[in-house]
Amino acid sequence: MKENIVTVEHLSFTYKDSEEPAVKDVSFSIPKGTWTTLVGHNGSGKSTIARLLNGILLPDDNPNTLINIDGITLTEKTMWDIRDRVGIVFQNPDNQFVGATVEDDVAFGLENRQVPRTKMKSIVQDVLNQVEMIAFQESEPQYLSGGQKQRVAIAGILAIGPKLIILDESTSMLDPAGKSKILRLIKKLQKENELTIFSITHDINEAVHADQILVLNKGSLLASGSPGDIFKDDSLIRSAGLDLPLFYKIKNKLINEGVSIPQEVNTEEKLVNYLCQLNSKM
Ligand SMILES: Nc1ncnc2c1ncn2[C@@H]1O[C@H](COP(=O)(O)OP(=O)(O)O)[C@@H](O)[C@H]1O
Ligand SMILES: [Mg+2]
Repeated sequence: MKENIVTVEHLSFTYKDSEEPAVKDVSFSIPKGTWTTLVGHNGSGKSTIARLLNGILLPDDNPNTLINIDGITLTEKTMWDIRDRVGIVFQNPDNQFVGATVEDDVAFGLENRQVPRTKMKSIVQDVLNQVEMIAFQESEPQYLSGGQKQRVAIAGILAIGPKLIILDESTSMLDPAGKSKILRLIKKLQKENELTIFSITHDINEAVHADQILVLNKGSLLASGSPGDIFKDDSLIRSAGLDLPLFYKIKNKLINEGVSIPQEVNTEEKLVNYLCQLNSKM
């Protein structure tokens, strides 16, 4: 059993002037080094959960509520320790720039943490190399594409040396090519830096490759499990107002038609290969 890097118990949050809680008694955990995807309809409370996990918002008062990250229980006192461990990449690349140039922007979090100049310079170079943006270190943000801006935002987070990266709809403003490029980059960084990834999306197709999926509906956690469990039929995902990913639609239809498909066939590519091989045996 892997150790959990995130444990959330009985988490609720109500916005001021709102009668209904936006997050209702949510509990889940995330094993270290894994990729968890939180899916839910617009307005289901996904971004609110992201903001609660690094203390931008504080939970409704309840003695049973717990947010523990990397062994630290989140309180007003530990908030800054938690923020050293949790980085969030938001949806809109234009709202994330604070520096006049790429390198200033990446250095911002280090300046805040009073990292010495020479050390700062080498960290900035290193993380810009990791996200393949070193050639743009002196560029001004307005000349970058959306995908490049997200790479810089990711570099700024890596600079702090986080344990957990939260991607809150971070690819939803990018075109399909930009989207898959960022997701591939995150996958690579996850391995190299032993990161845990918590991605948040309303795009169900992004959830197919996760280790764990959490399904949120109107502020409540409807289910958690592997993609195979969550997508084995469409009833669960439909009750959250979402549709099955295309891959599972096809796979489930084939199974219903009597084609036997092993559990380990869990990507489009593997399915195509498996079907071709079946076909050649017939
Ligand atoms: N700053 C806010 N003040 C009041 N209500 C908010 C605020 N932000 C979000 N909400 C409400 O909280 C609910 C959950 O929002 P959010 O967490 O942004 O959902 P999601 O990210 O899943 O789209 C929605 O009903 C939304 O209207
Ligand atoms: Mg959101």
